[in-house]
Amino acid sequence: MGRVIVSTGRGGAGKSTFVALATRYLKPPKLLIDLDPDESLANMLGVDLAEKGKKTVSGALYDILQQNQGAGHTGYNLLSEILLPAIQSDCLYRGAEFDLITLGTKFTVGCYCTPDTVLKGLIPALAEGYEEVLIDSPAGLEHFNRKVVVDIDGLFIILDPSEKALKHIERVIAITKELKVNYKHLYLIGNHRFTNDMGEYLRNFGEAYLGKIDYDPDVKQYNLKGKALFELPEDSPASLSVRGILVKAGCNIRDRDLASGPTRNGCL
Ligand SMILES: Nc1ncnc2c1ncn2[C@@H]1O[C@H](COP(=O)(O)OP(=O)(O)O)[C@@H](O)[C@H]1O
Ligand SMILES: [Mg+2]
Repeated sequence: MGRVIVSTGRGGAGKSTFVALATRYLKPPKLLIDLDPDESLANMLGVDLAEKGKKTVSGALYDILQQNQGAGHTGYNLLSEILLPAIQSDCLYRGAEFDLITLGTKFTVGCYCTPDTVLKGLIPALAEGYEEVLIDSPAGLEHFNRKVVVDIDGLFIILDPSEKALKHIERVIAITKELKVNYKHLYLIGNHRFTNDMGEYLRNFGEAYLGKIDYDPDVKQYNLKGKALFELPEDSPASLSVRGILVKAGCNIRDRDLASGPTRNGCL
């Protein structure tokens, strides 16, 4: 499995925007996983999954389990022989720039335990052969409790300019430690509303603060039109700041996007 990058933070902080913009710069092959039941990532990438004939994991699961009911499948056998091929064919969108799989909305009563557990079991096999695996999380901390991903290379916390966001950092550090969700590097990123003084405050965290993502009016316009954010103009302030952040984090940037300037190799 390739390097695992997770974007996390409070609601509306800019987690999905970060993943969508990072898609532009990271080296292929890359797999994007949207763990947010709100499924906004596909839209930000300009992909209409239904139009492409792809289901979400939550959507497909019920049908797959129904079809295989009573067939005596259990545990590993169910995951590897039934669910993996079915989910790969029904849910995995394969595009020129990236592949994408989404957890999706569950339209029945109950928690997301089953689709989460299935995804957790399948991620290592699904992610086989990819250079980068980018995971977009739902808002808040609960996704850590679900432990869908437990070995992370780069955990990027996207922050809004609030005291709650600072508390959020402490909670992420505490909950990941408690639940043994491992990450090699924790990075703090200010969102488009972040202020310079908040940035200065965060420098107390040393290397962890990698800078802020600049405000870009086109981000909202592209979202409204369902246009792919990685197609923003070359000089888009939001894109360029995400690129700078990825370079600082030592991520593998595509050759055509590599400009002058040192990278902190091996950081991720
Ligand atoms: N750099 C930016 N410039 C302007 N607007 C932005 C920027 N980043 C995010 N936004 C806006 O902020 C809102 C929330 O972003 P989103 O990525 O959906 O947050 P999250 O995934 O954390 O809930 C979106 O409406 C998006 O258009
Ligand atoms: Mg989101």
